[in-house]
Amino acid sequence: MIGIIGGTGFAEFEDFERSAVLTAATAYGEVYLEQGTLSGKPLVFLPRHGHPPQFPPHKINYRANIQALADMDVEGIVAINAVGGVDPALPVPSLVIPDQMIDYTWGRAHTFFDEAIHHIDFTEPFDQALRQALAHAAQGNVVGSGTYGCTQGPRLETAAEIKRLRQDGCDIVGMTAMPEAALARERNLPYASCCVVVNAGAGIAPISHDEIGIALQTCIAEVRRLLSNLIARY
Ligand code: HPA
Repeated sequence: MIGIIGGTGFAEFEDFERSAVLTAATAYGEVYLEQGTLSGKPLVFLPRHGHPPQFPPHKINYRANIQALADMDVEGIVAINAVGGVDPALPVPSLVIPDQMIDYTWGRAHTFFDEAIHHIDFTEPFDQALRQALAHAAQGNVVGSGTYGCTQGPRLETAAEIKRLRQDGCDIVGMTAMPEAALARERNLPYASCCVVVNAGAGIAPISHDEIGIALQTCIAEVRRLLSNLIARY
């Protein structure tokens, strides 16, 4: 069974047939989860920002979220993340399945290993097999690789910060893939992200919240198709 973590614009999962809503208790806190089926296949859906959405990126209880999915025995996690484009060539809207990450966040509870010395291998932060399955499910409608720069937020970046992200090698920028991806690795859960590019990064083009809303709407329809294709294979 796959776990889906829904991000901004994906707090409700429409095609999904919900059979149960639960509040999962973990050692790190409580988590709202939905169980159900998509195309007849079992699925767990976890809206990252809560239900209703209430936690900004730096206040999300990432440890509780990942622990709750681990406790449900999911075999992998597909995350949906809204991002800005750092590569000026990336169209808005578009979908990107990142293969690399740079973490610029700070002060987040970012590990399950506070009391023991344990260093995960994070050379490849995203699970390759799950990335390939996502790319296949997208039927060509996706950019198949890219480096995700994870910023602290909740504010958007300055133009100079976007320039620096580009110089660092980032293609997209978001606020939620870390520590989520690392925590999933710490729990040995394959994790891949489908990023929805909803705006060009600061300084590349003016940022309009209306346009972000429209881009999200357009992409979410695409993401729903992609997830249905993906789940059909599990
Ligand atoms: N920056 C950071 N996070 C984002 C952006 C952005 O421009 N757009 C959507 N999430």
